[in-house]
Amino acid sequence: MEPLSSSPSWRALLAHRDALSAKHLRDLWVEDPERGEKLTFSCAGICADFSKQRATSETLELLIALARARGLPEAIERLFTGERVNVSENRPALHMALRGEEHVLVDGTDILPEIQRQRERMRVVADAVREGHWKGATGKAVTHVIALGIGGSSLGPRVVVEALRAHADGPQVRFVSNIDPAELDDALNGLDPASTLAVVASKTFTTQETMANAAAVQGWFTNALGPEAVAKHVVAASANVEGAVRWGLPECNVFPFGEWVGGRYSVWSSVGLPVAMALGMAGFERLLAGAHAVDLAFRSTPLDHNVPALMALVGVWNRNVLGATTHAVLAYGSRLASFTTYLQQLEMESLGKRVDEEGNALDLPTCPVIWGGVGTDGQHAYHQWLHQGTDPVSCDFVVSARPMGSNAAHHEILLSHACAQSEALMRGDNTAQSHRDCPGDRPSTTFVLPALDAYHLGALVAMYEHKVFAQSVIWGIDAFDQWGVELGKRIAGEVLPALRGAEQELHPATRHLVGLIHRLGAAS
Ligand code: F6P
Repeated sequence: MEPLSSSPSWRALLAHRDALSAKHLRDLWVEDPERGEKLTFSCAGICADFSKQRATSETLELLIALARARGLPEAIERLFTGERVNVSENRPALHMALRGEEHVLVDGTDILPEIQRQRERMRVVADAVREGHWKGATGKAVTHVIALGIGGSSLGPRVVVEALRAHADGPQVRFVSNIDPAELDDALNGLDPASTLAVVASKTFTTQETMANAAAVQGWFTNALGPEAVAKHVVAASANVEGAVRWGLPECNVFPFGEWVGGRYSVWSSVGLPVAMALGMAGFERLLAGAHAVDLAFRSTPLDHNVPALMALVGVWNRNVLGATTHAVLAYGSRLASFTTYLQQLEMESLGKRVDEEGNALDLPTCPVIWGGVGTDGQHAYHQWLHQGTDPVSCDFVVSARPMGSNAAHHEILLSHACAQSEALMRGDNTAQSHRDCPGDRPSTTFVLPALDAYHLGALVAMYEHKVFAQSVIWGIDAFDQWGVELGKRIAGEVLPALRGAEQELHPATRHLVGLIHRLGAAS
């Protein structure tokens, strides 16, 4: 593919940027007071307000021309029809098939019947756990679920369970992802093994952290309840059924999903079991329905109203044209505390790449640093940096129109801050006192959800998933692999024996560090 920076549509964008450069975001509002309506689009009931972007309708037209020149409409079709868009691993990426009812072929086989069969199996186990029919080794019902998994096998269900806590009426779910033993200690603290069920989520069933934690939990059950207890206290969600069976689970405890589901897109599969157990299958299916509505919109809406595509294009505009190196996601809702972390994996693991699909070095920077957290807490921490720091940054605000907690008056205060922050970032405040001066002109998009419920959360997550895909098409990269994480895993495999005292060839820098750790560990 032609390098992005030498394409005519790119040059047109740069010329447009130059024409806009003398204008402050405030001026754009003075020139066109209707821009709020013009630059707000809705998708699956969520409104995306782009009117505080340093962009006009003309900007969007030029970005859409770029998207067409990069073949975005054709790429979307290739994604949905099961082409092998994950080039380096030679796989399709069909997480959308998990949330719809369309027939899609993989290697000539229609995958829908198996998806539906597995969803029914999820329903049976989730209902059994929730209704108390799933009994542990001593005949007790399940009161707690320990969800083991890391990366995509943890973050998706964690975001959903946390965000929808108000709707959860099943067993309490605790997540354990880290190999830091403190995390497992904390999660197991106070739990009765006889009424606890572990869900081990791992696509590969080989990930070191998850397998070590699963072994520890297995020991916790067998010590308390005997070796036969595992079958009644551990289930798995994996694409590697054989691996899970070899590990010691009966096959009926394994809930598989296809290799065509990427780890960071797997919450829609059996990896969502903790969600189904906490909320019920009906809640899980509302999540799928919201995501499916976005799939339909992404596939069929013209680009000029296509919210995920516009999110992607506005992101490219901010990153590549206006030079924002970081992008802050500011979710106004304490139950969305893990949302930014979730997006860090989704966006940075998918788009943190420096070569195109054919292995050629890219001519423009890709994914910005994704960071942020919850408002209003962030306002008392890093918003100072947003308002008066020196680096260009773009922001996403996420708000729920309806209250997420019981006190509606507090929700109004929360919303007043979200609205105020995006206004302050946009218009700034020029005063004679330089320490008070806020330059403004800092772009943001605000996503307004009618309510933080399963349907709209599913929709929101799917919007970001498709944003990532659309950006990968513009930049020409494979969004579905993550080879960069392998090197560290390999080195950790060499370091571990040395930490345990074995003679091991190590880089001098690491040998030095291991020595420090040994010295301080021995001293304490
Ligand atoms: O190391 C990164 C990663 O491969 C993620 O992409 C994935 O979600 C995570 O590890 C966990 O992998 P698995 O589900 O195979 O345990």
